[in-house]
Amino acid sequence: MNEKEKTIIVDVARIFGDNRETIIQKWLSLLLNEKLVRGEEELDYFKKGFEKLVDDFIAYLSAGDFDSYFKSNLELSTMLASYDIEYSKFIKVFHLFEDSYSDLIHKSVDKELIINYMSAIDRLHHETIGIVSETYFEIKDATVFALAKLVEYRDNTTGFHLERTRDYSVILAKELGCRDEFLKHLYKVGPLHDIGKVGIRDRILLKEGPLTEDEYEEMKKHTVIGAQAIDNIIKHRNMRKCYLKMGKEIALHHHEKYDGSGYPYGLAGENIPLSARIFALADAYDAITSKRPYKDAVPHDEAVSRIVCDSGTHFDPVIVKAFLNAAPEFANISSKYNDKAHEQ
Ligand SMILES: [Fe+2]
Ligand SMILES: [Fe+2]
Repeated sequence: MNEKEKTIIVDVARIFGDNRETIIQKWLSLLLNEKLVRGEEELDYFKKGFEKLVDDFIAYLSAGDFDSYFKSNLELSTMLASYDIEYSKFIKVFHLFEDSYSDLIHKSVDKELIINYMSAIDRLHHETIGIVSETYFEIKDATVFALAKLVEYRDNTTGFHLERTRDYSVILAKELGCRDEFLKHLYKVGPLHDIGKVGIRDRILLKEGPLTEDEYEEMKKHTVIGAQAIDNIIKHRNMRKCYLKMGKEIALHHHEKYDGSGYPYGLAGENIPLSARIFALADAYDAITSKRPYKDAVPHDEAVSRIVCDSGTHFDPVIVKAFLNAAPEFANISSKYNDKAHEQ
């Protein structure tokens, strides 16, 4: 924002200061008219968030303190993210903010200056939306990833399995020509694939020797447990179209095999969701090339031949083809996130 725009905003903040109640009431009635809010609790959150925004606007901007105002925008995004308000809804609600004061500005400002005023406020709002969206998504993604990491710690595999499989799966999806949205979702939810391991007893999860048949049966349940946990979040929050659905697919089906010999359901071919077919290969490549207590790390070239050998049985042949095209990238990631190199 330039100096002229800043002076205008200081003026606007003073106008807001004299009309705080009117703006808030108008905004609330617009919000209710649009039927954007789900229940009392959500209304209360929006109300708090909105009052904060208006109060910060008045307090900081009427004093010309833009830095503190933007810092406070960060708090607003934390509030939204922790209450899990959908971003698109926030944007709609934010736009109602503009409607809640536009009459007021028209009344208070000379006609020939209105365009300058509106464009200055518009610029300010763009900055706010930029700050809020960046923080909001950072918080969301970090929460999902931290949750997945927690499971990894319990599993005693404190390496970079999640980081690598996340990268591998996105490379495969890109190679397969999947849409950008699919790639973004995959990047976020892939790390949740083994989250159901929290429900497996230590005696089995941490066992060093081979599992008995019964133990193996219990171990297999991590797929269903993980999927149920994610499903509960989806249902509880009434989320219809969201990336967690892909998370559920991957958690449930990442051990299915293309020929139907996998678990938990023995699905075959394209009955296995694409995300899970992709992830299965990414996960297997990483398991093969990583050192485990019971086995050494297998070099890249040998991992490639093992995967090719399992094309059509364990893996979808189309995905194996994509893997072969992208194999050098796999090798790069594997050495970039080398567990040994990062061990301290
Ligand atoms: Fe798994
Ligand atoms: Fe895994």
